[in-house]
Amino acid sequence: MNTATSTAYSYKVVRQFAIMTVVWGIVGMGLGVFIAAQLAWPFLNLDLPWTSFGRLRPLHTNAVIFAFGGCALFATSYYSVQRTCQTTLFAPKLAAFTFWGWQLVILLAAISLPLGFTSSKEYAELEWPIDILITIVWVAYAVVFFGTLATRKVKHIYVGNWFFGAFILTVAILHIVNNLEIPVSAMKSYSLYAGATDAMVQWWYGHNAVGFFLTAGFLGIMYYFVPKQAERPVYSYRLSIVHFWALITVYIWAGPHHLHYTALPDWAQSLGMVMSLILLAPSWGGMINGMMT
Ligand code: HEM
Repeated sequence: MNTATSTAYSYKVVRQFAIMTVVWGIVGMGLGVFIAAQLAWPFLNLDLPWTSFGRLRPLHTNAVIFAFGGCALFATSYYSVQRTCQTTLFAPKLAAFTFWGWQLVILLAAISLPLGFTSSKEYAELEWPIDILITIVWVAYAVVFFGTLATRKVKHIYVGNWFFGAFILTVAILHIVNNLEIPVSAMKSYSLYAGATDAMVQWWYGHNAVGFFLTAGFLGIMYYFVPKQAERPVYSYRLSIVHFWALITVYIWAGPHHLHYTALPDWAQSLGMVMSLILLAPSWGGMINGMMT
């Protein structure tokens, strides 16, 4: 990164998130290795509740997806939105807040999950006070990202930013809807939904957490950094737009495939299955564009 541009753009928060991506990557995958070893040698759970597979598995998934992946997404979106909009970050103090807020969320997860506090929803295990903190940090992230887009110096919104924007907006909606719950104590809550409805909301969330956090967000990274590294434009800009709209339109319907042969009504299972098959096309669109660039 050259010094001429580093004075014009806010790189501090990008650097902080990039460093923590490496740190949480090591921690999260280290935990993965540990729980994998527990599957082979169960005595490694040390006969303690805090180090048991059941408590460390969600810590691993949260650490790799939201701590490692999340920090990577914050770092790369803050970096590329500035470069493609040719403007500095909107509200840099709020961006700094998102860094410290997100680290606090991760720290609270690392404490509360081994202690056994869980809402028991996969990839959304954190209890209600942490859910509220996540919402506040996420809204701040949206203000910084969309504020930067709104104050851009170029007319066009580069496709990578469409992917980052969809990821930020959709994850906000998924998180809020899936975590609507009634607190019964400081660290215990019950879901607002019951039975099959609860399962459907959970897998609408769980599936789209992969779809928008791990797919749309990472496509945002791909669309900026692959052409940059390859020193050539995206293979097909038209394909990038078409598969963006196709992906975000179709992905959101595929959640029921996590609930095949369950109490979920058949029509919902069939709809989820058909949408999952259709989803092949837009996901291949991104893959083709990345590989061909
Ligand atoms: C050193 C690398 C890694 C190791 C050794 C590892 C190990 C594990 C183990 C043992 C499980 C539990 C499997 C079970 O319950 O039977 C697991 C689950 C999972 N891991 Fe990892 N992991 C690693 C990296 C990652 C990364 C980088 C991600 C994503 C960014 C990830 C995401 C997940 C997810 C989503 C699950 C739940 C899968 C499911 O329920 O089907 N892991 N991992």
